Amino acid sequence: MTAPWWQSAVIYQIYPRSFQDGNGDGMGDLGGIGQRLDYLAGLGIDAIWISPIYPSPMVDFGYDVSDYCDIDPRFGTLADFDALLAQAHARGIKVLLDFVPNHSSDRHPWFVESRASRKNPKRDWYLWRDAAADGGPPNNWVSDFGGSAWEWDEATGQYYYHAFLTQQPDLNWRNPAVQAAMFDVMRFWFDRGVDGFRIDVLWHLIKAESFPDNPPNAAYHPALGEMHRVLQLHSTDQPEVHAIAAEMRAIADSYGATGRGDRLLIGEIYLPVDRLMHYYGRERPEMHLPFNFQLIDAVWEARALAALISTYEAALPPGGWPNWVLGNHDRPRVATRLGQAQARVAAMLLLTLRGTAILYYGDELGLSDVPIPLEQERDPRGLREPGLRLGRDPVRTPMPWDGSVHAGFSTAQPWLPLNADWPTRNVARMMQEPASILRLYHRLLAIRRAHPALAIGDFALLEADGDVLAYERREGAQRLIIALNLGGHPQRLALPRDTTDCRLLLSTLAAAPLIESDGLLLRPDEGVILAA
Ligand code: NOJ
Repeated sequence: MTAPWWQSAVIYQIYPRSFQDGNGDGMGDLGGIGQRLDYLAGLGIDAIWISPIYPSPMVDFGYDVSDYCDIDPRFGTLADFDALLAQAHARGIKVLLDFVPNHSSDRHPWFVESRASRKNPKRDWYLWRDAAADGGPPNNWVSDFGGSAWEWDEATGQYYYHAFLTQQPDLNWRNPAVQAAMFDVMRFWFDRGVDGFRIDVLWHLIKAESFPDNPPNAAYHPALGEMHRVLQLHSTDQPEVHAIAAEMRAIADSYGATGRGDRLLIGEIYLPVDRLMHYYGRERPEMHLPFNFQLIDAVWEARALAALISTYEAALPPGGWPNWVLGNHDRPRVATRLGQAQARVAAMLLLTLRGTAILYYGDELGLSDVPIPLEQERDPRGLREPGLRLGRDPVRTPMPWDGSVHAGFSTAQPWLPLNADWPTRNVARMMQEPASILRLYHRLLAIRRAHPALAIGDFALLEADGDVLAYERREGAQRLIIALNLGGHPQRLALPRDTTDCRLLLSTLAAAPLIESDGLLLRPDEGVILAA
């Protein structure tokens, strides 16, 4: 295979506070991740993406960075990071970091300087504007976490812009000095040996220069959260962002020739497909993978999924490689959205579609959103708009490893509650159960690794009707058929005429399905992979 490593890769997202506690303080850390590398290697993933581990006041749990070139003591030290990187590489696991370029913490020395006075050389590193004529904010932009996106600074008599929390001021990416400083951050980590970055809110970096009001959103409803009051027409996805994304890519590519293969850039971009595609780069290459989040919001119905997949495939630019994801630290978990039975079918879909797959820690256990009592809520997203239950704590709970105290996650009380079913839903227990979703993930990953047709092959839709979604993947002479029953009733699928001798590779259910000469009987909630 000549495809770059990341095309056939399965990437595993680690939310570091919740993966494994190595120092007994109830929070995960780098030492903890190191202890679990063998688990990850055994699972069969190719790379990990670790959500932010930099020094941070942790107001947004690490997405408020106060030093881009160090490790927060809660997670460890730079030496610990180097050791983890070496241990991961020794197991053939690549390591991606989370790069948060749009905003820093308000405690970052750059912002401390910037707010010190209007004359400070770093004033223009952030977005400062005078008040409107009535003394109010410069425009109507709304923070993604609710409330005005502008914060008044009494000392210097101006507002600063923050797309997220007031403690996360947006950097001024139109300033070449900011660009240079942030590009140096990328080099700092590339020089240490990291294999790439997931780039936080990439489409936010550049705002319309004159800061015009955003248009009102006709579909706004208060339950959606205040950020939806206006459309982010002028505050995000501006044309000038692409030159910056291309520069980031050029930096990544400049390391590609230095040894272990491409350094990978994945852009976090929540945009409609047509706009998303621009982030592959038109004049110059940009992201290897602009995140494709569509499965997270998908209507779980065969025709809807088929349309989504076909539209996405058709929209890809020449050479653009697809990617798929079922969940992350910001969105409800797949097992909660679809239920346990369909979470298994979704796993098969994710790992058999054409493209890089990104797994969210715990989804391989069928972990559900954990209800968090109000008084234990920690996420600022939830706390800023109380009552709407927009908090993301339920999807960030500790990984349950075994039946010992605190599920083997920590020797101390975990920072968030465990899933109530942890005595049975934990790694050690589910490894013993041949029919567990964890074992299914193991088998799916092994089959994907063993079959180039799944890893890099072509995709063709076969059937999308009612609850049955079927497609094939081909590479050379290898041809696999994937058939998914998205519902709770048995279904019959006619196999293509030119398939004679179908052999079952895997079912999401225990016993073998019924393969007839010209068709397949799918049981309720069953997905199968056939070699044709
Ligand atoms: C996107 C991240 O995924 C989310 O967790 C964070 O709160 C915002 N960016 C702000 O950095």
